[in-house]
Amino acid sequence: MKALLVENIHPEADTAFARAGALEIERIDHAIEPGELMQRLKGVQLLGIRSRTRITREVLDAAPDLLAIGCFCIGTNQVDLDAAAEKGVFVFNAPFANTRSVAELTLASAVMLMRGIPAKSNAIRRGEWHKSAKGAHEVRGKKLGIIGYGNIGSQLSALASGHGMHVYFYDVEPKLAHGNARPMNSIEEVLEISDVVTLHVPSTPQTRGLIGAGQLQRMKKGSFLINQARGDLVDIDALAGAMRAGHIAGAAIDVFPKEPASADEAFESPLLAFDNVLLTPHIGGSTEEAQAAIGLDAGIKLARYAFEGGSAKAVNLPELEPGTLAEGRSRLVSIHRNQPGYLSRLNEAASAMGLNIASQYLNTSGAFGYATTDLEGAVPADLLQRIEAMDGTIRARLLTR
Ligand code: NAI
Repeated sequence: MKALLVENIHPEADTAFARAGALEIERIDHAIEPGELMQRLKGVQLLGIRSRTRITREVLDAAPDLLAIGCFCIGTNQVDLDAAAEKGVFVFNAPFANTRSVAELTLASAVMLMRGIPAKSNAIRRGEWHKSAKGAHEVRGKKLGIIGYGNIGSQLSALASGHGMHVYFYDVEPKLAHGNARPMNSIEEVLEISDVVTLHVPSTPQTRGLIGAGQLQRMKKGSFLINQARGDLVDIDALAGAMRAGHIAGAAIDVFPKEPASADEAFESPLLAFDNVLLTPHIGGSTEEAQAAIGLDAGIKLARYAFEGGSAKAVNLPELEPGTLAEGRSRLVSIHRNQPGYLSRLNEAASAMGLNIASQYLNTSGAFGYATTDLEGAVPADLLQRIEAMDGTIRARLLTR
């Protein structure tokens, strides 16, 4: 088995592979063009990429040995997920590995805003010495409103409580409150009660434009807004208006409706006009610890699929957790079209060969099905060919211990 890791993936990925089984690893420290990638993918079963390597249908066509792609990042839109599914290539990512980094930055931002640090830091660079306690506050005893109590929101809740903040939150799903955090019935209730409001929801049709002029007006006079989630959640012009009017005292914004595509492009925003705004270039989750966690997370998922057939948290094909293969058994892994009769045909084929099925799992999703079948005893040499030739099979593998 061979893995190709491009774009300087964190060495924790190697740690995950080494724990799982024998694997040859080739590393490239930069993104490579589709032409070169197609050459290099010959004989490669596992591919690790980050966000700059595009995996098109053409690339997948040129990679018949490829079993799975690990996106060592959050997003997966650099991969043609449908084409990968049609070829039986599983795609994994590491969606939550950087959430602690965001939660820490959000808490730090709340502290900075309540002390007026962005404005004071900007002033001192201009040679102005604003040595004053006026308007500077501790976060202890203040109210933090969290909108979206998922991975980041709930971790932030615990960190903020540890700093003596009173936490109020709203989520569309019922969530277990951490510590003394209080669930609220609506976003409006959170906006009205909080000294600092922070957003931790995904970008969806329901959340786009979540905070506009009306919502900002419902926030307390002198309160702060933090958006380190997605750029389209907040109407930036409305936020600039609310700050100009003195209603919102400051903001920390890490994500923007329009972000530069690269370091060569200039950043523009109406928020540049304000001293009391902490602006960061979409780095909420960008830490070395997060990179290591991503390396381990995506590495474990790739290795588990390669050596055990486990596909938990796959993004394009059905999830299955068949567990560790028992000694003396073989595991037939088959990705197939989700159509009536596939499993019975597979079982009939096994039974016709005199094979006993020790355990079997199936899951389907949309047009695709995924089954693992653990077989006892010696497996005939032509089993795999027979399953591959069977109507509905997209791809099959045999794992042994
Ligand atoms: P998550 O999926 O764990 O949590 C999101 C929560 O929002 C869920 O509990 C969901 O039920 C809730 N939610 C969805 N729609 C809602 C609505 N209309 N009102 C209230 N709650 C709603 O996501 P996670 O990992 O906590 O990430 C949160 C956000 O942070 C995402 O937008 C993500 O893209 C962003 N993010 C930003 C990073 C950065 O670098 N700045 C890095 C990582 C994540």
